Amino acid sequence: MCGIIGYTGPRNAADVLVEGLKRLEYRGYDSAGICIAQSDSLKVLKRAGKIAVLREALDDQFSGTTGIGHTRWATHGEVNETNAHPHLDSKEEFSIVHNGIIENYQQLKQGLEHEGVTFLTTTDSEVIAHLIAKHYQESLEQAVRDTLFLLKGTYGIAVMSSREPGKIVGARNGSPLVIGVGDGEMFLASDVTAVLAYTKQVVYLNDGEMVTITSREFRTQDLHERIVQKQIELIDWELEQIERQGYKQFMEKEIHEQPESIKRGFQGRINYDQATAHLGGLNMSPQELREVERIRIIGAGTSYHAAMIGSYLLEQIARIPCSAELSSEIRYRNPVVEPKSLYIAVSQSGETADTLSAMRELQRKGARVLGICNVVGSTIARESDGGVYLHSGPEIAVASTKAFTSQLTIFYLLSLMFARQRHYSVDEGQQFIQAIEKVPEQIGAVLAQAQQIQDIARRYSGARNVLFLGRGKLFPVALEGALKLKEISYIHAEGCSAAEIKHGPIALINEETPSVFLIGDDFLREKVLSNLKEVKARKGKVIAIAVEGDQEVADLADDVIFVPHAWECMYPYLMVVPLQMLSFYCALELGCNVDQPRNLAKSVTVE
Ligand code: AGP
Repeated sequence: MCGIIGYTGPRNAADVLVEGLKRLEYRGYDSAGICIAQSDSLKVLKRAGKIAVLREALDDQFSGTTGIGHTRWATHGEVNETNAHPHLDSKEEFSIVHNGIIENYQQLKQGLEHEGVTFLTTTDSEVIAHLIAKHYQESLEQAVRDTLFLLKGTYGIAVMSSREPGKIVGARNGSPLVIGVGDGEMFLASDVTAVLAYTKQVVYLNDGEMVTITSREFRTQDLHERIVQKQIELIDWELEQIERQGYKQFMEKEIHEQPESIKRGFQGRINYDQATAHLGGLNMSPQELREVERIRIIGAGTSYHAAMIGSYLLEQIARIPCSAELSSEIRYRNPVVEPKSLYIAVSQSGETADTLSAMRELQRKGARVLGICNVVGSTIARESDGGVYLHSGPEIAVASTKAFTSQLTIFYLLSLMFARQRHYSVDEGQQFIQAIEKVPEQIGAVLAQAQQIQDIARRYSGARNVLFLGRGKLFPVALEGALKLKEISYIHAEGCSAAEIKHGPIALINEETPSVFLIGDDFLREKVLSNLKEVKARKGKVIAIAVEGDQEVADLADDVIFVPHAWECMYPYLMVVPLQMLSFYCALELGCNVDQPRNLAKSVTVE
């Protein structure tokens, strides 16, 4: 989605802004621009396409020390240089960048056009610049405030004016905005990664809040001019974590980080004496946790797949009735909130609009909602009633990999904790802990097969359709495998329960449509093998992900990737990794932009 960066201080603003925009690239964008305050005017540079194109067009004229920048992911108006932000008012005295959607922009635009204003773009955002110009009387803050009262929709904005050089005003309603506090310099950004190279001190804005930054200070207030005292927080991410560190793609780096990121998720959270998990941020007493009668988990995309696996784990291990639902669906079906139900919102970014809105709707109806997020200080993390961080480290590639396995880690820990409070013995708890502690090494063994997996990917990358099939906890893994393949290689893929293919998808099987089968070694193995044979009988090619030593599967399949033998509950971890790798190598083979796939955004902050 769109990204914002603002800077005021002693440095060359253009350099800081372009560097910040580079850091925001991973969020997904189609055009970019900056505006720099000169002595008494504003100078704008915009380009469709990559930041590199914008950087090339920069010249000495962009030499001021205050500026705002933006990466645009088109919602209203086509992708072109004109529609890229920043937008100016007619006299070019006010410049704005905007994330979000202004729902009543048509009406506002018509009003302004009647007053003689000419619009240059087809965006919803340009209206903000003209309104601020119209309302400017005594200060930029006042003009922004008066404008915000007229807007319907969502926004994170940064505004500057040639009339008040050295000042940037920001405001937030539904789109994240964070202040970076430097020494004699200040930043404004939609995402901490944009400022991490300069400062680790940040202040998160809440909806309904505004901020004014100058090089010396920041001042936060609400829309009624009441001062809001904010806490400066420290980001615990290191700059190296958002760099490729020798890998060509972030996705590859993040796939290979999984043994470490999973370990970070459970380390320090296991109580060996009691053979249970200790999750500090839940904000629930042992008594309240024991009283939970039902768990409902919500999420979107990959996080929804983690939620599904979480629901299988919690139900099987902790014996608590549990279900997973798409956050986009629960939000609008007027959900019934049961008194003893616990809700969990899962989101890597903590900013996904569908999940955030669903969480708020559930809370409005009295639900207690825990958040499982990766990004510290994100909106879901702050607005949930308690929760657990993934500690996965920043995930930059649009396709989620390590955050997914870290989300699973939290569900394993929750399952252990609930199970130990209910029916699990110390012995069972210890066996569980032993099993999860083996996972990082077992994933290492899967990663070591990179060459073999790449060879397989090379052979199948010409397919136009691929089926991913699994059962039980491996069914959501199949869904995740299909999502990964389609989002980065643009090969159409469908994930389904292996049992379901006979109800429809088997019609797709022929020599050209390969199937990826996920085959564990539990009681479902025989049933999945029958489905595999049904596919082979129809001349379908089969790639099997199976447990090491399963010769029968190796004989039946055209290609096989083995994962180490483990407790059957751990196979979602072990089997998703080869699927991530298959997708990655297919996309490489096809020459796709793996880290920034077309049309996608890392953090989906619009509905
Ligand atoms: C994952 O590969 C996708 N890019 C996407 O489905 C993502 O998981 C979804 O948008 C939810 O994001 P979140 O975890 O940040 O809420």
